[in-house]
Amino acid sequence: MLILGVETSCDETAASIVLDGKSILSSVVVSQIDDHARFGGVVPEIASRRHSEAITRVLTTAVEKAGISLTDVEACGVTRGPGLMGSLLVGIGAAKGIAVALNIPIVGVNHVHGHLFSALLEHPDLTFPFVGLVVSGGHTSLYYVADPLKVELLGKTRDDAAGEAFDKVAKLLGLGYPGGPIIEQRARQIINGSEVFPRALMDGGTLDFSFSGLKTAVLRRVETLFGVCHNRHLAGSFHTLVTKTASVEYSSLIDSLAKGFQDAVIDVLTTKLFLAAQKYGVENVVICGGVACNNALRQNVLAHSQLHGIRSVFPSPDLCTDNAAMIAARAETILRKLGPDDLNFNALSRW
Ligand code: KG4
Ligand code: ZN
Repeated sequence: MLILGVETSCDETAASIVLDGKSILSSVVVSQIDDHARFGGVVPEIASRRHSEAITRVLTTAVEKAGISLTDVEACGVTRGPGLMGSLLVGIGAAKGIAVALNIPIVGVNHVHGHLFSALLEHPDLTFPFVGLVVSGGHTSLYYVADPLKVELLGKTRDDAAGEAFDKVAKLLGLGYPGGPIIEQRARQIINGSEVFPRALMDGGTLDFSFSGLKTAVLRRVETLFGVCHNRHLAGSFHTLVTKTASVEYSSLIDSLAKGFQDAVIDVLTTKLFLAAQKYGVENVVICGGVACNNALRQNVLAHSQLHGIRSVFPSPDLCTDNAAMIAARAETILRKLGPDDLNFNALSRW
């Protein structure tokens, strides 16, 4: 079955054609990063406008690249939530329009489940049950996945998502947006030793996460190191300070702060992932979402994998960040096992 997937939950306008839930014939992603970069985060109103401008072009390109014509599409899968309401509605409207015009079934897909099951696209041999960690700009959650339809939440962040913390700390350090790749690159400059930051909720066996204290710890350290105390406008002030005094010492202090922050996030994510894996006795773990692009995280997880004799599966970076192939693939499973949605379904900002 040829399924068209549509994804517009945040700041990527994406469409994809996937055959039988397995083969990706095309996957088109238009990112709005440049539009949001100067704000240091996604601005919802700008996001929905950009989706409206891009959606038709993205859809037609996905169909063209797959080497099919639109009338060959047999079903639609579209992200229903969670996400930004105005953004979700653009994708849902477009997908519903196509479903009505072609008289084909449509299904609303949970974005987080899209991430969780994206690993199956490249690793069809992945067996159930597995523990999945979805770690992105909007989510940091652990799941026990018993089978394709049974997904149980084990723990989630009580405040910031890990990717959000990467973005906020990068903003604090005057490094730009999105923060994850830049912090990773700066952290790589430090071979030995770095700043050390606290790890939250590591005792007591909870599978919840917390990253806002870590972000504040970095802020306090920045104030101590550089004597900046402009809490409200820290990012701007600090950025000016750093660019004014762009010495080697400043630069390597920033590297060290980035490394210390990244180490703390990776330590917490990896520890809790394997705590959950052992608690639930699974043989496979899946790590997905934008932060799963981080190579230091990948290496740390792989080292723990060997230690515990548990297989770890990462989707490739293009499938870790937001994309529509994971939505089309998930739609195939839902259509096959549960059937289509009624056309009346609406967006869900929380799900
Ligand atoms: O999955 P995604 O594309 O969108 C959401 O659903 O949020 O994830 C984007 C997030 C951003 O916060 C970004 O900073 C983070 O993923 N990210 C990374 C890396 N690449 C992207 N975080 C750490 N290291 C990376 N290499
Ligand atoms: Zn996502």
